[in-house]
Amino acid sequence: MRILALESSCDESAVAVYDEAAGLLSHQIHSQVELHRVYGGVVPELASRDHVRRLLPLVRSALAMADTSAAQLDGVAFTAGPGLVGALLTGAALGRSLAYAWKVPAIAVHHLEGHLLAPLLEREAPPFPHLALLVSGGHTMLIDVQAPGRYEVLGETRDDAAGEAFDKSAKLLGLPYPGGPELARLAAEGRAGRFDFPRPMLDRPGLEFSFSGLKTAVSLAVKEQSAQGSLSEGTRADIAAGVQEAIVDTLVRKTLRALEQTGHGALVVAGGVGANRLLRQRLEVAAARQGVKVFYPRIEFCTDNAAMIAVAGMARLKAGRHEDLGVRARATWPLAELASS
Ligand code: KG4
Ligand code: ZN
Repeated sequence: MRILALESSCDESAVAVYDEAAGLLSHQIHSQVELHRVYGGVVPELASRDHVRRLLPLVRSALAMADTSAAQLDGVAFTAGPGLVGALLTGAALGRSLAYAWKVPAIAVHHLEGHLLAPLLEREAPPFPHLALLVSGGHTMLIDVQAPGRYEVLGETRDDAAGEAFDKSAKLLGLPYPGGPELARLAAEGRAGRFDFPRPMLDRPGLEFSFSGLKTAVSLAVKEQSAQGSLSEGTRADIAAGVQEAIVDTLVRKTLRALEQTGHGALVVAGGVGANRLLRQRLEVAAARQGVKVFYPRIEFCTDNAAMIAVAGMARLKAGRHEDLGVRARATWPLAELASS
């Protein structure tokens, strides 16, 4: 079986062609980073309009690169949520229409399931069951993954996501959007020990996270240093290093707790923040000490892409899951509801 997949939940327009036997045949992506940079964040209406412009040409080039005609497709998958509803609707409308025209099933995919299954695109795929740390711009979750489609959320953030904490701290440091990778770059030049930022919820049992206090602490540090006239490049790098250390330390310690609790011998790290080098290094070392093997998607498949939507779409198609003729998108879509939707 072979499918086409579309991703348009936020600021990336992406299309992929995936074959059950041969794997990923092509993937195309257009990032809207330049479009939104002047505004310091994603402008939803601009995102939707740009998806409308970009998706169809990306479909054409993805099919051409995969040497695939419409007649060879067995389904069209698209991200149906969660995300920006206008942006989601552009992909849902196009995906549903193409499936109708080509007389194949339309498959609505949960964006987070895409992130969770992205490591299946790699040569060495994770075994099931495993623990997943899902860290993106909108979500921070520890998930017991029993099998594709069977997810139990063990803990999540009560407020900001880890990616959001990176992005908001980066903004306070005057770094351009998207803040996460920029902050990581600046942190590499700083000393992590100079600013000791809070690691909330670590002293409590359980697997919940809270990152909203971090931005207040960073805001205070920035104000104090500015008032003293000492917000030099070096100080900004030290603050960035302190922020990265606090986020990574919190994520690693809670992940270890979840590994102990579940007894799983494999860990998947997925979502945009999974591209963070320090997080990868620390998890690798800590997990190895417990005899746990860590699996990641390659860096380009940590952040949003259509290849992961294709993998999740194929799993759903094989499970007999597809859509009626309606066009639907969900801004919020709890992972727990996936089993019944
Ligand atoms: O998964 P993703 O591409 O989009 C969502 O579904 O949210 O994640 C984007 C998030 C952003 O918050 C971005 O700043 C963060 O991932 N991110 C990083 C890095 N690369 C992307 N955060 C820290 N270090 C990075 N290298
Ligand atoms: Zn994402």
